[in-house]
Amino acid sequence: MLDEKEIRSVISGKRILVTGGTGSFGHEILRELIKYDPASITVFSRDEKKQHDLRLLYAHIRQIGFMIGDVRDYARVREAMRGQQIVFHAAALKQVPACENAPYEAVLTNIVGAENVRRAAIDADVHTVVSVSTDKAVKPVNVMGMSKAIQERIMQQPLDCGTKFICVRYGNVLGSRGSIVPLFVERIMAGLPIPITHPGMTRFQLSLSEAVKLVFWATVRGTSGDMWVKKMPSINIVDLGAHLAYGLTGKEEYPSTIIGTRPGEKLHEVLVSEEEMWRAVEYPGHFLIPSWRESFEVNGSVVPNLTEYSSASVDFLTREQSLAMLRDDGWIAESGYGPGPKLALYD
Ligand SMILES: NC(=O)c1ccc[n+]([C@@H]2O[C@H](COP(=O)([O-])OP(=O)(O)OC[C@H]3O[C@@H](n4cnc5c(N)ncnc54)[C@H](OP(=O)(O)O)[C@@H]3O)[C@@H](O)[C@H]2O)c1
Repeated sequence: MLDEKEIRSVISGKRILVTGGTGSFGHEILRELIKYDPASITVFSRDEKKQHDLRLLYAHIRQIGFMIGDVRDYARVREAMRGQQIVFHAAALKQVPACENAPYEAVLTNIVGAENVRRAAIDADVHTVVSVSTDKAVKPVNVMGMSKAIQERIMQQPLDCGTKFICVRYGNVLGSRGSIVPLFVERIMAGLPIPITHPGMTRFQLSLSEAVKLVFWATVRGTSGDMWVKKMPSINIVDLGAHLAYGLTGKEEYPSTIIGTRPGEKLHEVLVSEEEMWRAVEYPGHFLIPSWRESFEVNGSVVPNLTEYSSASVDFLTREQSLAMLRDDGWIAESGYGPGPKLALYD
């Protein structure tokens, strides 16, 4: 665990750029960053409506600024990068079906966009770039994961320059935009059965605040070329539906229907592959996968076995744990049963 002083020492007084700052992760990191008195935070994304909403929300915070732009456009990214000291790169296409249907769009945003961010950061002499990746980039079977795997390599490529490039990787963020939770909630609130792709499917789960903590950890502790992976529990998709239904309705039993896996979906996800374990270093809450140019002699104990870190073999969230996460995230009522404050956003 980092203490606040450590985070403050890195963030306070810094000029910060958040690509994808209007997204689920972007919004959460914005809220956290504000606490540590950065000199400025620039939100970089395409859609003016999302920026407008955020601008209204943070009208009282003078440090936050907005820039419309597309990571595919090098000139604009270079402009956004001017004078920045820390960059959190979260702009991405992250929906599996969308990327399956338009693979080259994923290439442009997740690969070309990442390369633009990398080059512009070097040109602008940025100190640190932290890039957000996903378990779907490990042994990828879908276009989204493949494009994020290349994005990781782009960010981790060996390079002698003043800019530090660090990646983080995590699993499903409970309740993020486009995730399964809003869909399940919608169905349950309408009294409809929960659609289950496959009863054996498991997914790593973490909250948005844990995702931000991981990014702060990597920002403070990381060295260039690092990939930091957070250890996290997983959940069976049937259990997630049942826990959510229980939290929303108080019912022990709720109907579900099997709809089959979608193109590009895996049964289980992997956060650290067996091959990455060869050079990974294990810490109590994390794995560090050093860049391939690094020697394997990094502080910490050597991973004692070479088994991949899979959502099928880690601890599963209990009902109480998942309800606590869903409550924290505002999906279900703070006490008792019923919808939480987040549902108001979906009216
Ligand atoms: N959510 C998860 O479960 C999860 C899990 C693991 C990793 N991640 C990773 O975390 C990062 C953030 O995900 P998220 O959940 O916050 O996604 P999100 O809610 O969909 O937000 C994506 C953000 O990127 C912006 N964006 C998309 N394309 C862009 C482009 N071409 N140029 C500039 N901005 C662009 C979007 O705004 P505009 O549309 O207005 O441009 C939005 O601000 C992604 O890299 C994702 O792969 C997410």
